[in-house]
Amino acid sequence: MQRIVGKFLEYNSHWACEKQAEDPHFFEHLAKGQNPIALLLGCSDSRVSPSVVLGGDLGEIFIHRNIANVVSHADMNFLSVLQYAVDVLGIQDIIVYGHYGCGGIRAAMDDEAIGLIDNWLANIKDVMATHQAELDAIPDEQDRLNRLVELNVLTQIKNLRQTSVFRQATKRGKSLRLHAWVYDFSNGQVKVLEHEAVEV
Ligand code: CO
Repeated sequence: MQRIVGKFLEYNSHWACEKQAEDPHFFEHLAKGQNPIALLLGCSDSRVSPSVVLGGDLGEIFIHRNIANVVSHADMNFLSVLQYAVDVLGIQDIIVYGHYGCGGIRAAMDDEAIGLIDNWLANIKDVMATHQAELDAIPDEQDRLNRLVELNVLTQIKNLRQTSVFRQATKRGKSLRLHAWVYDFSNGQVKVLEHEAVEV
């Protein structure tokens, strides 16, 4: 454990020196404030790091992550992030960034009791219940799991539309663009879902 922590700090030390050498005003500029171009809701999975996959520089992506990238109307943490992003930072693009091979989605589908997280995964079980017929019609288990990952992202887009933050912002005439993306860590590609065309 100590060796791993040491690795991170060693990297940070080199990185900070390198950035400073490249541009002496780099940190000074960032310290003045942020003007990110998108809010991203992603999964906590260690293999999907948005800044690495999407190449977001510091200051570009405002990020919230939780297990299985869920928008819960009872989650003050995410709702506060959303409100700050939209009302204070003026962000107009919101990305729900799910991923194939999501352990949270699999756990919900397998219906295994894990503990506290079962309550959180009830959000995914709701998605399953809504789309039971479509999911039941998919014979291959992996395909079914992949489709649930997509349906979850699309459902969270729908949930975003129902938040007070989204509704009030659009009522004020602000246009917010919602993006449904699914990352595949087996090939590194991001798939864009056509969410306007899908009823969730
Ligand atoms: Co995940």
